[in-house]
Amino acid sequence: MKSTAAFAAAALLSGADAFWRMPCTSRTGLGRIDPLVEPDEVASHAHTIHGSGNFGWDATYDDLVSADCTSCLVTQDKSAYWTPPMYFVHENGKTEIVKQVGGMLAYYLLYGEKVTGFPAGFRMLAGDTRRRNITVPVPDPETSAWGAEDKTQAALEQKALGFNCMNYGKPGERTLMRHGMPTKEYMDANCVDGIRTEVFFPSCWNGEKDSDDHKSHLAYPDLVIDGTCPEGFDKRVPSMLFETIWDTNAFNGKPGQFVFANGDPTGYGYHGDFIMGWDEKFLQDAVDQCTNPSGLISDCPLFNIQSEPEASTCNFTMPEILKKEDCAGPSDGLCGNVPIQYGEAYASALKPGKTGEATGGLAPKPTEAPEQPTVSYIAATSAVTDKFGGGISVLAVDPNGAAPVASDLPYSSAAEVAAAAVTTTAPPAPAAPALTPAPSEKAPVGKIISTSTYTSAGIVYEVAIEEIAVTVTVEADGSPVPSAAAQVYKKRHAHHHHLRRDREHGLLGRY
Ligand SMILES: *[C@@H]1O[C@H](CO)[C@@H](O)[C@H](O)[C@H]1NC(C)=O
Ligand SMILES: *[C@@H]1O[C@H](CO)[C@@H](O)[C@H](O)[C@H]1NC(C)=O
Repeated sequence: MKSTAAFAAAALLSGADAFWRMPCTSRTGLGRIDPLVEPDEVASHAHTIHGSGNFGWDATYDDLVSADCTSCLVTQDKSAYWTPPMYFVHENGKTEIVKQVGGMLAYYLLYGEKVTGFPAGFRMLAGDTRRRNITVPVPDPETSAWGAEDKTQAALEQKALGFNCMNYGKPGERTLMRHGMPTKEYMDANCVDGIRTEVFFPSCWNGEKDSDDHKSHLAYPDLVIDGTCPEGFDKRVPSMLFETIWDTNAFNGKPGQFVFANGDPTGYGYHGDFIMGWDEKFLQDAVDQCTNPSGLISDCPLFNIQSEPEASTCNFTMPEILKKEDCAGPSDGLCGNVPIQYGEAYASALKPGKTGEATGGLAPKPTEAPEQPTVSYIAATSAVTDKFGGGISVLAVDPNGAAPVASDLPYSSAAEVAAAAVTTTAPPAPAAPALTPAPSEKAPVGKIISTSTYTSAGIVYEVAIEEIAVTVTVEADGSPVPSAAAQVYKKRHAHHHHLRRDREHGLLGRY
């Protein structure tokens, strides 16, 4: 019998591509405040803020770490994480915030050799609040086909945003598949569990704690999430990804549009901000030791974990001047009276401290929606995966790069295995999630006895160990085995499934 159990164990031991997923289950505040880009003044647009309870106008590392609480579930994490919130603008102009589902998640993905934990004082920003257009091809070509023009920092930055259409009854979309907001019609028809916004931070680093634009001390590796770092950015920090699920379906069928707090209806101007708030040595220890490929914070012995109700009591003190401003709504227009700027031209800058003032003219609303990749959502039917409410069954991949072994897999022929192997190394075309071959009819069906995840070459896989009983009749010299006509033994199969709970979290999908 081929030892798939041993294979799974090997997968668990490969810590090089480890990660943890920090749930910041409630926000610490909502308001026009941004200590990174617009310190000490009323920011031009609202943010939804998570993490340290000592956030503020001009919050520094020292302020954040001295907080007595955090809204993230690991109490040692006093970092601050913020993004613009999403709003719904009704037909009559009334504007209200879209509810966040479960706060946000901050992934710390440990890609690359020798990852350096962020140092004290480290701050960064990803995305461009004024962008209203993308110049990269839609959809992304397969990474193996990316040429020089796909790998410029400008192109990589555009590809580092994701707007995932959520529908738990159907196969999940991969992270960073779509780089702008889908249309309202598409969302009404497909995204019954909301939209998950994703912003992936650059992880190649020049060793500086910050830079004037809070971006240029970092660069993207040439495949966005991993790959080769450009010259001068030879160090690697944890690859950070923010994910937030928005309950857009609450507005299903209602006329109006979704707009981010910065006046962006396209999504292309979505962005994320981060100020590191860990004890520096502790964070490095976590990077070195929290290598369980499950990504669960509970699998890192260093972390002290608090409950969601505890985390939810952590709010920062809103500056007096902002207290009277209601950024949740319903109200007339966006918080700060931010104008909606459609593009496709680069948006005018907004004046901080003012309300509703852009520094330039505003482009009119376009008549055509920007092109977006869409997913047909035709799931391959599968005896193996249907019990999870539909899903994708992906073959096992050896984390060390060895070819999958046919006898371990629910594929009947070597050709199928080879075809499947190709789909795991190249990203599937966004329009065709059903690329994964359906398992053959011989696919075993048994009890899932454990699940785990691991990453390999930028792909996070979920491994479900399935135990099935196989009856084998062993004959020697044409006669039955003396003591028993048959032996029953347990055989373990490693399968990969997108389980429903993990499809809420984008990285547990294929790239
Ligand atoms: C914390 O702030 C949120 C708004 O962001 C509010 O709903 C909640 O009541 C606040 N909690 C406390 C304990 O002040
Ligand atoms: C927007 O992007 C497209 C390519 O995707 C480009 O052709 C067009 O010129 C861009 N528009 C502006 C105003 O930059």
